[in-house]
Amino acid sequence: MSQDTKALFIIFGATGDLAHRKLYPAIYHLFKKNMLSESFAVIGTARREWSDEHYQEVVLDSIEDLTESKEHAKAFAEHFRYQSHNVKDSEHYHTLKELADTLDDEYSIEGNRIFYLSMSPSFFGTITHHLREQSLVTDNGFNRVIIEKPFGTDFESSKALNDEINDSFDEDQLYRIDHYLGKEMVQNILALRFSNRLIENSWNKDSISNIQITLSEDLGVEERGEYYDKSGALRDMVQNHVLQVVSLLTMTKPASFTTDNVRKEKLAILKALKDPVITQDENTEFVRGQYASSEDGATKGYRQEDKVAPDTLTETFVAGKIIIDTDEWRDVPVYIRTGKRLAEKTSRVDIVFKSTESDLFNDQPTLLSVLISPDEGIELTLNNKNIGPGMHLKPTQLSNLRSEDTREESPEAYEKLILDVLNGDETHFAHWGEVATSWKYVDQVRRAWDGFTDSIPFYPALTMGPKEADTLLSQQDHSWIYKA
Ligand SMILES: NC(=O)c1ccc[n+]([C@@H]2O[C@H](COP(=O)([O-])OP(=O)(O)OC[C@H]3O[C@@H](n4cnc5c(N)ncnc54)[C@H](OP(=O)(O)O)[C@@H]3O)[C@@H](O)[C@H]2O)c1
Repeated sequence: MSQDTKALFIIFGATGDLAHRKLYPAIYHLFKKNMLSESFAVIGTARREWSDEHYQEVVLDSIEDLTESKEHAKAFAEHFRYQSHNVKDSEHYHTLKELADTLDDEYSIEGNRIFYLSMSPSFFGTITHHLREQSLVTDNGFNRVIIEKPFGTDFESSKALNDEINDSFDEDQLYRIDHYLGKEMVQNILALRFSNRLIENSWNKDSISNIQITLSEDLGVEERGEYYDKSGALRDMVQNHVLQVVSLLTMTKPASFTTDNVRKEKLAILKALKDPVITQDENTEFVRGQYASSEDGATKGYRQEDKVAPDTLTETFVAGKIIIDTDEWRDVPVYIRTGKRLAEKTSRVDIVFKSTESDLFNDQPTLLSVLISPDEGIELTLNNKNIGPGMHLKPTQLSNLRSEDTREESPEAYEKLILDVLNGDETHFAHWGEVATSWKYVDQVRRAWDGFTDSIPFYPALTMGPKEADTLLSQQDHSWIYKA
């Protein structure tokens, strides 16, 4: 347990949105639960000229709704120092090192350092190079680097980035954040699959008809138009979150629950993905879409968003049929869809089981739904006899949804992931092999779409995407379980 884990955090991008919204609250939660040693300190860095006092005010503001008392919050904020720093300027790293060494002594940290790169990935190579060159990396403790997404924009760029980082840090020092891997219900997938014999024994092609993953957002691109228009839903969501969830849902049981064994089995799935067929007709295994204005005209279309090209072909929606080319899974399509300005914000997985082979009853497929967010829990829909005469069936739902109180009390993804970094546990972080293999898969779709320059299917904002996403399933007599 990390009550004994001493650490100095150095956060690059300390004045940014992520730090304010997620990182300071996450570190505070750990502090509040006594999961941080008293021997911890944080240096925040960014170009802005802030004083320590101002920085501590910012930290206090970010945890305002979470604090036990003013004194407790103040005791927390006192562990924070600010150092104005341009990451491109090598001189600044000397000043940073001096402050880091001073705090290391002051808090008896014994050389343990966590470098959190909460900045544009274009700086990651520069920062890691300087950390090593200017000796911010210690000899007497651990040195771990937390890396935010996106990790490259395709396989080539991600490899270049990885090579650059590997010049200074080894793979086992790198913690690539995929915040989906920190979500309770995503972590619960392996627990559900491998601790319940009932589920374990039916988690196979004989029992499962198809798997459906929906990660939908009701918001548009907001102020992120510039980034998003270059990225699109495929790069933003499928390469990382969606494929990570696919691998957890279909990986073979690991020999033991160790980081290496879990990662090995996840990677085996990603390597087994069949090359997708991408066409502009109904044979395609991936469809894209872009939101137009809503049916009532109240919500604008993607092309009208700020910092988005008026004739852009960037997809704000992706649906796909993923085939895992193994004897175990070849016949079980994994349908995925994700997008912006969809009817509702939800992340969920629906496992659609096959109907029974007997014709005793007119049964419906059994359904297991894993609700990831905003609802968290599981729902199992079974056939039951309807009360009364005759043998008519009625689907019955067994539901175990976590209450609002439980959800509020349960740790946020960032809190758990930062604790994992403190403990040196890499299980819930993406290994380079997974990242590389995912990019190679997604790049095939990207390349094909980049060749389709005439048009893109539109969908009205606040609906569940273009009709092509329904055709993808109906060709195999399947349909989306989740309909908002
Ligand atoms: N925000 C989110 O919800 C979210 C979600 C998932 C992933 N991410 C990822 O997390 C990272 C940070 O995102 P963000 O939203 O916090 O970005 P942001 O608000 O734009 O913050 C960027 C930070 O970088 C600093 N910075 C920029 N250039 C610098 C330089 N040359 N030297 C030193 N500091 C510099 C900025 O501060 P100064 O201007 O003061 O220098 C600021 O603190 C990105 O990789 C992003 O993709 C963010």
